[in-house]
Amino acid sequence: MNKIAILDFGSQYTHLLATRVRRLGIFSEILDPSSATAETLKDYKGIILSGGPASVYEPDAPTVDPAIFTLGIPILGVCYGHQLITHLLGGTVEPGKGVGAEFGKAEITILKPTALFQDFHANEKTQVWMSHGDRVTKLPDGFEILASSADDQYSAVGDTRRNFYGVQFHGEVAHTLKGNEILSNFLKLTGAERDWDLKNFVDHTLEQIRTEVGDRNVFMMISGGVDSTVAYVLLVKALGEDRVHGLFVDTGFMRANERDEVETALHAEGITRLQVVDAGPEFFAALSGVYEPEKKREIIGRVFLEIQARESKALGLNPEKWMLGQGTIYPDTIESGGTKHSAKIKTHHNRVPEIEALIREGRVIEPIKELYKDEVREVGKTIGLPRSLVWRHPFPGPGLAVRILCAQQEDWPENHSALEAEINAFLAEKNSRLSAQILPIKSVGVQGDFRTYRHPVVLTGPADWPELASLAPALTNRFHAVNRVLYTISEPTVPAATPTITPGDLNPARVERLQRADKLAMLWLREINEHLNVWQMPTVLLPVSLGAAGQESIVLRPVVSEEAMTANFAELPLAATQILAAEILEDSGLSAVLYDITNKPPATIEWE
Ligand code: XMP
Repeated sequence: MNKIAILDFGSQYTHLLATRVRRLGIFSEILDPSSATAETLKDYKGIILSGGPASVYEPDAPTVDPAIFTLGIPILGVCYGHQLITHLLGGTVEPGKGVGAEFGKAEITILKPTALFQDFHANEKTQVWMSHGDRVTKLPDGFEILASSADDQYSAVGDTRRNFYGVQFHGEVAHTLKGNEILSNFLKLTGAERDWDLKNFVDHTLEQIRTEVGDRNVFMMISGGVDSTVAYVLLVKALGEDRVHGLFVDTGFMRANERDEVETALHAEGITRLQVVDAGPEFFAALSGVYEPEKKREIIGRVFLEIQARESKALGLNPEKWMLGQGTIYPDTIESGGTKHSAKIKTHHNRVPEIEALIREGRVIEPIKELYKDEVREVGKTIGLPRSLVWRHPFPGPGLAVRILCAQQEDWPENHSALEAEINAFLAEKNSRLSAQILPIKSVGVQGDFRTYRHPVVLTGPADWPELASLAPALTNRFHAVNRVLYTISEPTVPAATPTITPGDLNPARVERLQRADKLAMLWLREINEHLNVWQMPTVLLPVSLGAAGQESIVLRPVVSEEAMTANFAELPLAATQILAAEILEDSGLSAVLYDITNKPPATIEWE
């Protein structure tokens, strides 16, 4: 088998490793180390042990079958993987206790320009990205130091005779400038041929679908987004349209005109048997009076399943003969805590408990669950989908429901007036002309590998992008009750003394309000020619007034990203944004248009 195994110890970056290996032309698979024995790994060309949050010396720390070291296969350990190799082969790993711990950018010096560093020269310095508290303090027999940083002499080590290597840094992230070269050097040592591309992925996946589905059929919910469409078309290509029943559920939380556009686009693809269910009233009824974000997601997932069960029953689909198809992609699973050792950030709608139960029963097929968005797009192009569909911005399964924040009453952080005063003093110290207001709601964020649920702060006043871009992380780093920073775009920029809550749940009037603002924003983004530069631009409705009582507010959340695991806010032309804000504010129920200037982390792309 010409493939590389990646054993996943729970790092948020494990999948980046897999993607990098594939981009370097070799098929890679992510495996659970607790079930991947030496016997199952013996035919792989190379094995990579990922990073992860545990400490190797803890009693229940995840480990690997030590017999893998007798297979004669090259092995690379990254961060936790590096420490695990050291630990299992007789070296020592200890808690850093402040010594040797490194977080963020670091510089290593190459001491042995061979093996992993074959195209470097001796004493060359290169920037890497570290994130570790524990550290190696003694090497196993046969190992030597290949590269060191100022704080840790064991940054890269290896037993070049047996081809076992360990790197303390994360070579898979972009901040490790020559990470790709180092990974490529390891792959050279494995002798694997570079024969993998997305055309192969398509062939391999069609084959896999046929095997997994066997003589069953597939029932698939389609949202009209690129993921579910690509997954659906792959299923149709593998099994034929007769064996794939597509169901489009209009939840009531789609964008304006989305349902018509989806039907037209799929018809153009020759997909004509799509069934459309108008489920808006059912979703609104189930969500009435619900305010908590995770609860909303759970209910949406459940109602989706109820509709699917009801429709499949109405169609007379025997559950033994039918599988459920889903357009799940990798970030959906890893952020729901779906890989064994990762922590939960938020529950994506296709990872609710009912679906998990079906997955355990082998009744769910997810043809693109290993791919990141850009790979899904490439597959979409490979299988001939039109540009307009392939380049649609990602849209979450629960749709506008997760972009309409709900609240019954004000929810302030402790001592919020004192906190607001502290934030304003901090701004004054920085000679900023901005003033800050905390909002009496919370939004979801992600810090470290964990989820947060904290308050946004709104900045108002004259400022430019460089000032805003440096203030936002400074504020979230300094004030831990805050995980998002917003900038007031709309004129006039005279805020009410204290923001107030306008109670609201998910109801048709609020959806229509957001649909109108979202439509204006999406048209505008194309007009200013930024649609392709921006990864995604959620428009969010907040039950908060910054002006008259009873009004609400709109947030624009344009981000640039590569795979949605991390993102930066997009710096769109401010003057043009003010014109859009004025148009949005023609709705007299709105008090302000705010621009989200937080990166991910600490905030997520969506607000809940
Ligand atoms: P976050 O908000 O976690 O989003 O930074 C990362 C990416 O995932 C999308 N997203 C979802 N997609 N079902 C989906 O299919 C969901 O429940 C869901 N929640 C977030 C989000 O739009 C972004 O592209």
